Amino acid sequence: MHLGDYIYEYAQGKYNDPALASERPVDPPHEIVTLADYRRRYACYRQDADLQEVHRQHPFICVWDDHEIANDAWMNGAENHSPDQGDFADRKRAAVKAYYEWMPIRPVRPDNKLRIYRSFQFGQLMSLMMLDTRLIGRDEQVKTTWDARERERHLLGDEQQNWLFDELEHSRSRGAQWHLIGQQVMLSPLTLGTLPDTPNWPLGGGIQLNYDQWDGYQTSRRALLNRIDAMGLDNAVILTGDIHSSWAMDVTLDPGNILKYGPLTGRGSLAVEFVTPAVTSPAIPEKTLADLAAAYIVPANAHLKWVDLFHRGYMVLDITPEHCKADWFHLHTVSQPDDREFFARSYFAATGSNRVRQASTPSAPKAIAPSLAPAATHLVEISS
Ligand SMILES: [Fe+2]
Repeated sequence: MHLGDYIYEYAQGKYNDPALASERPVDPPHEIVTLADYRRRYACYRQDADLQEVHRQHPFICVWDDHEIANDAWMNGAENHSPDQGDFADRKRAAVKAYYEWMPIRPVRPDNKLRIYRSFQFGQLMSLMMLDTRLIGRDEQVKTTWDARERERHLLGDEQQNWLFDELEHSRSRGAQWHLIGQQVMLSPLTLGTLPDTPNWPLGGGIQLNYDQWDGYQTSRRALLNRIDAMGLDNAVILTGDIHSSWAMDVTLDPGNILKYGPLTGRGSLAVEFVTPAVTSPAIPEKTLADLAAAYIVPANAHLKWVDLFHRGYMVLDITPEHCKADWFHLHTVSQPDDREFFARSYFAATGSNRVRQASTPSAPKAIAPSLAPAATHLVEISS
Protein backbone atom coordinates (compact mmCIF):
# COMPACT_ATOMS: atom_id res chain seq x y z
CA MET A 1 0.00 0.00 0.00
CA HIS A 2 1.20 3.47 -0.77
CA LEU A 3 -0.75 6.19 1.00
CA GLY A 4 0.45 9.17 -0.96
CA ASP A 5 3.13 11.80 -1.37
CA TYR A 6 4.72 9.59 -4.01
CA ILE A 7 6.17 12.77 -5.51
CA TYR A 8 6.67 16.33 -4.25
CA GLU A 9 5.71 19.29 -6.37
CA TYR A 10 8.39 21.70 -5.14
CA ALA A 11 11.18 23.35 -7.09
CA GLN A 12 14.78 22.17 -6.80
CA GLY A 13 16.15 22.83 -3.32
CA LYS A 14 12.81 23.51 -1.70
CA TYR A 15 12.39 20.08 -0.17
CA ASN A 16 14.98 17.46 -1.13
CA ASP A 17 18.05 16.72 1.00
CA PRO A 18 20.58 19.54 0.29
CA ALA A 19 23.45 17.05 0.54
CA LEU A 20 21.95 15.11 -2.37
CA ALA A 21 20.81 18.05 -4.49
CA SER A 22 23.61 17.76 -7.05
CA GLU A 23 23.53 13.98 -7.15
CA ARG A 24 19.74 13.82 -7.40
CA PRO A 25 18.41 17.02 -8.92
CA VAL A 26 14.66 17.19 -9.45
CA ASP A 27 13.28 17.55 -12.95
CA PRO A 28 11.86 19.91 -13.98
CA PRO A 29 13.85 22.19 -11.66
CA HIS A 30 10.90 24.54 -11.14
CA GLU A 31 7.71 23.87 -9.18
CA ILE A 32 5.43 21.61 -11.19
CA VAL A 33 2.13 23.10 -12.34
CA THR A 34 1.30 21.90 -15.87
CA LEU A 35 0.59 18.41 -17.18
CA ALA A 36 4.02 18.33 -18.86
CA ASP A 37 5.62 19.29 -15.52
CA TYR A 38 3.84 16.57 -13.55
CA ARG A 39 4.74 13.95 -16.18
CA ARG A 40 8.40 14.96 -16.06
CA ARG A 41 8.46 14.79 -12.24
CA TYR A 42 7.16 11.20 -12.21
CA ALA A 43 9.72 10.30 -14.88
CA CYS A 44 12.41 11.83 -12.69
CA TYR A 45 11.42 9.79 -9.63
CA ARG A 46 11.19 6.63 -11.70
CA GLN A 47 14.86 6.91 -12.66
CA ASP A 48 15.55 5.57 -9.17
CA ALA A 49 16.59 1.93 -9.66
CA ASP A 50 15.16 0.86 -6.30
CA LEU A 51 11.81 2.40 -7.06
CA GLN A 52 11.79 0.64 -10.44
CA GLU A 53 12.56 -2.63 -8.66
CA VAL A 54 9.82 -2.29 -6.03
CA HIS A 55 7.28 -1.78 -8.81
CA ARG A 56 8.71 -4.72 -10.76
CA GLN A 57 8.39 -7.01 -7.73
CA HIS A 58 5.23 -5.89 -6.00
CA PRO A 59 1.69 -4.90 -6.85
CA PHE A 60 0.61 -1.58 -5.33
CA ILE A 61 -2.66 -0.38 -3.86
CA CYS A 62 -2.12 3.34 -3.97
CA VAL A 63 -3.81 6.65 -3.42
CA TRP A 64 -2.64 10.23 -3.72
CA ASP A 65 -2.09 12.58 -0.79
CA ASP A 66 -1.53 16.33 -1.20
CA HIS A 67 1.91 16.56 -2.83
CA GLU A 68 0.83 14.68 -5.92
CA ILE A 69 -0.99 17.98 -6.54
CA ALA A 70 0.31 20.70 -4.16
CA ASN A 71 0.99 21.03 -0.43
CA ASP A 72 -2.09 20.90 1.82
CA ALA A 73 -4.44 20.45 -1.11
CA TRP A 74 -8.16 20.67 -0.48
CA MET A 75 -11.14 20.54 -2.83
CA ASN A 76 -10.68 23.96 -4.44
CA GLY A 77 -7.15 25.02 -3.58
CA ALA A 78 -3.91 24.30 -1.76
CA GLU A 79 -1.56 26.07 0.63
CA ASN A 80 1.07 25.85 -2.11
CA HIS A 81 -1.04 27.24 -4.95
CA SER A 82 -1.29 30.91 -5.81
CA PRO A 83 -3.53 32.60 -8.40
CA ASP A 84 -0.50 33.50 -10.55
CA GLN A 85 -0.01 29.77 -11.11
CA GLY A 86 -3.37 29.65 -12.90
CA ASP A 87 -6.67 28.05 -12.09
CA PHE A 88 -6.38 25.41 -9.35
CA ALA A 89 -8.94 23.24 -11.16
CA ASP A 90 -6.58 23.01 -14.16
CA ARG A 91 -3.62 22.11 -11.96
CA LYS A 92 -5.66 19.47 -10.14
CA ARG A 93 -6.81 17.97 -13.45
CA ALA A 94 -3.24 17.84 -14.78
CA ALA A 95 -1.89 16.30 -11.57
CA VAL A 96 -4.60 13.64 -11.50
CA LYS A 97 -4.07 12.79 -15.19
CA ALA A 98 -0.33 12.31 -14.68
CA TYR A 99 -1.02 10.22 -11.58
CA TYR A 100 -3.09 7.71 -13.55
CA GLU A 101 -0.53 7.67 -16.34
CA TRP A 102 2.34 6.80 -14.03
CA MET A 103 0.88 4.87 -11.10
CA PRO A 104 -0.30 1.24 -11.20
CA ILE A 105 -3.98 2.10 -10.83
CA ARG A 106 -7.04 2.25 -13.05
CA PRO A 107 -9.85 4.72 -12.51
CA VAL A 108 -12.85 3.20 -10.73
CA ARG A 109 -15.03 5.18 -13.15
CA PRO A 110 -13.39 6.08 -16.45
CA ASP A 111 -15.58 9.18 -16.70
CA ASN A 112 -14.55 10.49 -13.29
CA LYS A 113 -10.85 10.23 -12.52
CA LEU A 114 -11.23 12.02 -9.20
CA ARG A 115 -13.27 9.11 -7.86
CA ILE A 116 -10.27 7.25 -6.41
CA TYR A 117 -12.04 5.87 -3.34
CA ARG A 118 -12.63 2.18 -3.75
CA SER A 119 -12.69 -1.11 -1.83
CA PHE A 120 -10.94 -4.47 -1.99
CA GLN A 121 -12.14 -7.78 -0.58
CA PHE A 122 -9.64 -10.37 0.64
CA GLY A 123 -11.93 -13.34 1.19
CA GLN A 124 -13.45 -13.60 4.65
CA LEU A 125 -10.31 -12.21 6.21
CA MET A 126 -10.64 -8.53 5.45
CA SER A 127 -12.04 -5.68 3.45
CA LEU A 128 -9.91 -2.69 2.60
CA MET A 129 -11.54 0.67 1.96
CA MET A 130 -9.29 3.29 0.38
CA LEU A 131 -10.31 6.91 0.88
CA ASP A 132 -9.54 10.29 -0.63
CA THR A 133 -9.21 12.96 2.06
CA ARG A 134 -7.88 15.64 -0.31
CA LEU A 135 -9.56 16.40 -3.57
CA ILE A 136 -13.15 15.20 -3.46
CA GLY A 137 -14.84 16.70 -0.43
CA ARG A 138 -12.32 18.48 1.78
CA ASP A 139 -13.19 21.97 2.99
CA GLU A 140 -10.32 24.44 3.32
CA GLN A 141 -8.04 23.99 6.35
CA VAL A 142 -8.69 26.29 9.31
CA LYS A 143 -6.05 28.19 11.24
CA THR A 144 -7.14 27.81 14.88
CA THR A 145 -8.38 25.25 17.37
CA TRP A 146 -11.65 27.16 17.77
CA ASP A 147 -12.36 27.14 14.04
CA ALA A 148 -11.67 23.40 13.93
CA ARG A 149 -14.69 22.88 16.20
CA GLU A 150 -17.06 24.33 13.67
CA ARG A 151 -19.80 21.80 13.01
CA GLU A 152 -20.23 22.00 9.26
CA ARG A 153 -16.73 21.20 8.06
CA HIS A 154 -16.16 18.13 5.95
CA LEU A 155 -13.19 16.00 5.00
CA LEU A 156 -14.71 13.32 2.78
CA GLY A 157 -17.81 14.99 1.38
CA ASP A 158 -21.28 13.51 1.77
CA GLU A 159 -21.12 11.14 -1.17
CA GLN A 160 -17.84 9.52 -0.14
CA GLN A 161 -18.87 9.39 3.51
CA ASN A 162 -22.13 7.61 2.62
CA TRP A 163 -20.17 5.23 0.42
CA LEU A 164 -17.81 4.46 3.33
CA PHE A 165 -20.69 3.82 5.72
CA ASP A 166 -22.31 1.48 3.18
CA GLU A 167 -18.99 -0.30 2.65
CA LEU A 168 -18.55 -0.85 6.39
CA GLU A 169 -22.05 -2.37 6.56
CA HIS A 170 -21.34 -4.50 3.51
CA SER A 171 -18.00 -5.65 4.91
CA ARG A 172 -19.64 -6.79 8.12
CA SER A 173 -22.65 -8.40 6.49
CA ARG A 174 -20.46 -10.47 4.19
CA GLY A 175 -18.61 -11.72 7.28
CA ALA A 176 -15.21 -10.08 6.85
CA GLN A 177 -13.14 -10.40 10.02
CA TRP A 178 -11.26 -7.08 9.64
CA HIS A 179 -12.34 -3.76 8.20
CA LEU A 180 -9.32 -1.75 7.11
CA ILE A 181 -9.50 1.87 6.07
CA GLY A 182 -6.49 3.14 4.10
CA GLN A 183 -6.29 6.91 3.99
CA GLN A 184 -3.93 9.86 4.22
CA VAL A 185 -4.09 12.07 7.31
CA MET A 186 -4.14 11.09 10.99
CA LEU A 187 -7.63 10.31 12.26
CA SER A 188 -6.76 10.35 15.95
CA PRO A 189 -6.37 13.61 17.85
CA LEU A 190 -2.94 15.13 18.37
CA THR A 191 -3.19 17.75 21.06
CA LEU A 192 -1.24 19.67 23.65
CA GLY A 193 -2.64 18.19 26.81
CA THR A 194 -5.25 15.48 27.24
CA LEU A 195 -8.44 17.28 28.22
CA PRO A 196 -12.07 16.11 28.09
CA ASP A 197 -13.85 17.26 24.94
CA THR A 198 -16.40 19.52 26.62
CA PRO A 199 -18.54 21.38 24.08
CA ASN A 200 -18.34 25.16 24.31
CA TRP A 201 -15.32 25.03 26.59
CA PRO A 202 -12.47 26.64 24.65
CA LEU A 203 -9.83 24.16 25.80
CA GLY A 204 -12.12 21.14 25.48
CA GLY A 205 -10.27 18.25 23.87
CA GLY A 206 -6.94 20.08 24.20
CA ILE A 207 -5.21 22.36 21.69
CA GLN A 208 -4.94 20.74 18.27
CA LEU A 209 -1.53 20.90 16.61
CA ASN A 210 -2.32 20.05 13.00
CA TYR A 211 -5.48 21.30 11.31
CA ASP A 212 -4.66 19.48 8.09
CA GLN A 213 -5.51 16.14 9.70
CA TRP A 214 -8.92 14.96 10.98
CA ASP A 215 -8.42 17.23 14.01
CA GLY A 216 -9.39 20.10 11.70
CA TYR A 217 -12.57 18.27 10.62
CA GLN A 218 -14.15 17.16 13.84
CA THR A 219 -17.62 16.94 12.29
CA SER A 220 -16.35 14.27 9.92
CA ARG A 221 -14.41 12.42 12.62
CA ARG A 222 -17.44 12.35 14.92
CA ALA A 223 -19.64 11.09 12.09
CA LEU A 224 -17.29 8.19 11.32
CA LEU A 225 -16.63 7.17 14.92
CA ASN A 226 -20.27 7.53 15.93
CA ARG A 227 -21.17 5.27 13.01
CA ILE A 228 -18.63 2.62 14.06
CA ASP A 229 -19.95 2.91 17.62
CA ALA A 230 -23.62 2.73 16.59
CA MET A 231 -22.95 -0.28 14.38
CA GLY A 232 -21.15 -1.99 17.26
CA LEU A 233 -18.50 -2.72 14.67
CA ASP A 234 -15.46 -4.63 15.88
CA ASN A 235 -12.09 -4.87 14.17
CA ALA A 236 -11.90 -1.56 12.33
CA VAL A 237 -8.29 -0.59 11.57
CA ILE A 238 -7.22 2.82 10.30
CA LEU A 239 -4.05 2.90 8.17
CA THR A 240 -2.51 6.33 7.78
CA GLY A 241 0.42 8.04 6.03
CA ASP A 242 1.18 11.73 5.48
CA ILE A 243 3.06 12.61 8.64
CA HIS A 244 6.44 10.91 7.91
CA SER A 245 6.60 9.15 11.29
CA SER A 246 5.49 5.98 13.12
CA TRP A 247 2.46 5.95 15.44
CA ALA A 248 0.30 3.32 17.22
CA MET A 249 -2.98 4.52 18.72
CA ASP A 250 -6.30 3.55 20.19
CA VAL A 251 -9.08 5.31 18.29
CA THR A 252 -11.54 7.01 20.57
CA LEU A 253 -13.72 10.10 20.30
CA ASP A 254 -12.69 11.65 23.59
CA PRO A 255 -9.29 10.36 24.74
CA GLY A 256 -9.00 12.94 27.53
CA ASN A 257 -12.23 11.91 29.21
CA ILE A 258 -11.56 9.16 31.74
CA LEU A 259 -15.29 8.36 31.84
CA LYS A 260 -15.24 7.51 28.13
CA TYR A 261 -11.77 6.08 27.63
CA GLY A 262 -9.40 4.13 29.86
CA PRO A 263 -5.82 4.66 28.65
CA LEU A 264 -4.44 1.64 30.49
CA THR A 265 -7.15 -0.88 29.60
CA GLY A 266 -8.30 0.51 26.25
CA ARG A 267 -11.86 0.74 27.63
CA GLY A 268 -13.96 2.80 25.23
CA SER A 269 -11.57 2.44 22.29
CA LEU A 270 -13.56 1.93 19.08
CA ALA A 271 -10.79 0.95 16.67
CA VAL A 272 -7.03 1.16 16.19
CA GLU A 273 -4.82 3.36 14.04
CA PHE A 274 -1.39 2.51 12.65
CA VAL A 275 0.66 5.22 10.94
CA THR A 276 3.46 4.34 8.55
CA PRO A 277 6.65 6.40 8.31
CA ALA A 278 7.89 7.74 5.00
CA VAL A 279 10.37 5.68 2.99
CA THR A 280 12.61 8.65 2.19
CA SER A 281 10.89 11.92 3.13
CA PRO A 282 12.25 13.49 6.32
CA ALA A 283 10.43 13.61 9.63
CA ILE A 284 12.13 15.61 12.41
CA PRO A 285 15.71 15.53 11.08
CA GLU A 286 17.45 15.92 14.45
CA LYS A 287 17.18 12.77 16.59
CA THR A 288 17.51 14.49 19.97
CA LEU A 289 14.73 16.89 19.07
CA ALA A 290 12.54 14.08 17.71
CA ASP A 291 12.97 12.06 20.91
CA LEU A 292 12.22 15.12 23.03
CA ALA A 293 9.02 15.83 21.07
CA ALA A 294 7.95 12.19 21.38
CA ALA A 295 8.63 12.20 25.13
CA TYR A 296 6.26 15.13 25.44
CA ILE A 297 3.42 14.16 23.12
CA VAL A 298 3.01 10.55 24.29
CA PRO A 299 1.96 11.47 27.86
CA ALA A 300 -0.03 14.43 26.51
CA ASN A 301 -2.17 12.14 24.32
CA ALA A 302 -3.68 9.31 26.36
CA HIS A 303 -4.66 7.21 23.32
CA LEU A 304 -1.15 7.38 21.80
CA LYS A 305 0.90 4.31 22.72
CA TRP A 306 4.03 4.93 20.67
CA VAL A 307 5.49 7.45 18.29
CA ASP A 308 8.86 7.70 16.55
CA LEU A 309 9.36 11.06 14.91
CA PHE A 310 12.84 10.49 13.50
CA HIS A 311 13.25 7.32 11.46
CA ARG A 312 12.32 6.61 7.87
CA GLY A 313 11.11 3.12 7.05
CA TYR A 314 7.96 1.14 6.46
CA MET A 315 5.31 -0.95 8.17
CA VAL A 316 4.42 -4.60 7.60
CA LEU A 317 0.87 -5.71 8.36
CA ASP A 318 0.27 -9.27 9.50
CA ILE A 319 -3.44 -10.02 9.35
CA THR A 320 -4.88 -13.30 10.62
CA PRO A 321 -8.33 -14.18 11.99
CA GLU A 322 -6.85 -13.65 15.48
CA HIS A 323 -5.01 -10.37 15.09
CA CYS A 324 -4.15 -7.38 12.96
CA LYS A 325 -0.54 -6.56 13.68
CA ALA A 326 1.77 -3.81 12.51
CA ASP A 327 5.55 -4.29 12.54
CA TRP A 328 7.60 -1.15 11.97
CA PHE A 329 11.00 -1.47 10.33
CA HIS A 330 13.31 1.52 10.32
CA LEU A 331 16.31 2.47 8.21
CA HIS A 332 19.65 3.84 9.40
CA THR A 333 20.04 6.20 6.47
CA VAL A 334 18.52 7.12 3.14
CA SER A 335 21.37 9.41 2.10
CA GLN A 336 23.42 6.61 0.61
CA PRO A 337 22.66 3.17 -0.82
CA ASP A 338 22.36 0.93 2.24
CA ASP A 339 20.06 -2.01 2.83
CA ARG A 340 20.46 -2.18 6.60
CA GLU A 341 17.22 -1.93 8.53
CA PHE A 342 16.11 -2.79 12.04
CA PHE A 343 12.92 -3.91 13.75
CA ALA A 344 11.58 -0.90 15.65
CA ARG A 345 8.29 -1.82 17.26
CA SER A 346 5.22 -3.96 16.92
CA TYR A 347 1.62 -3.35 17.98
CA PHE A 348 -1.48 -5.39 17.36
CA ALA A 349 -5.21 -5.50 17.87
CA ALA A 350 -6.49 -8.87 19.03
CA THR A 351 -9.81 -9.71 17.40
CA GLY A 352 -12.74 -8.10 19.18
CA SER A 353 -10.51 -5.94 21.41
CA ASN A 354 -10.51 -2.72 19.33
CA ARG A 355 -7.35 -1.54 21.08
CA VAL A 356 -3.61 -1.72 20.49
CA ARG A 357 -1.15 -3.73 22.53
CA GLN A 358 2.56 -4.06 22.08
CA ALA A 359 4.12 -7.28 20.80
CA SER A 360 7.76 -8.03 21.46
CA THR A 361 8.69 -9.54 18.12
CA PRO A 362 7.74 -9.01 14.50
CA SER A 363 5.72 -11.65 12.70
CA ALA A 364 7.65 -14.41 10.95
CA PRO A 365 7.97 -14.08 7.19
CA LYS A 366 5.26 -15.85 5.20
CA ALA A 367 5.86 -19.60 5.13
CA ILE A 368 4.76 -19.83 1.51
CA ALA A 369 5.81 -16.63 -0.20
CA PRO A 370 5.74 -16.26 -3.95
CA SER A 371 9.25 -16.08 -5.35
CA LEU A 372 10.49 -12.75 -6.61
CA ALA A 373 10.48 -11.92 -10.28
CA PRO A 374 13.72 -12.99 -11.94
CA ALA A 375 16.42 -10.39 -12.54
CA ALA A 376 15.73 -8.15 -15.49
CA THR A 377 17.66 -9.20 -18.55
CA HIS A 378 17.75 -5.66 -19.84
CA LEU A 379 16.93 -2.32 -18.34
CA VAL A 380 14.85 0.23 -20.15
CA GLU A 381 16.27 3.66 -19.73
CA ILE A 382 13.58 6.16 -18.88
CA SER A 383 14.27 9.62 -20.14
CA SER A 384 12.30 12.74 -19.56
FE1 LIG B 1 4.79 13.83 2.59
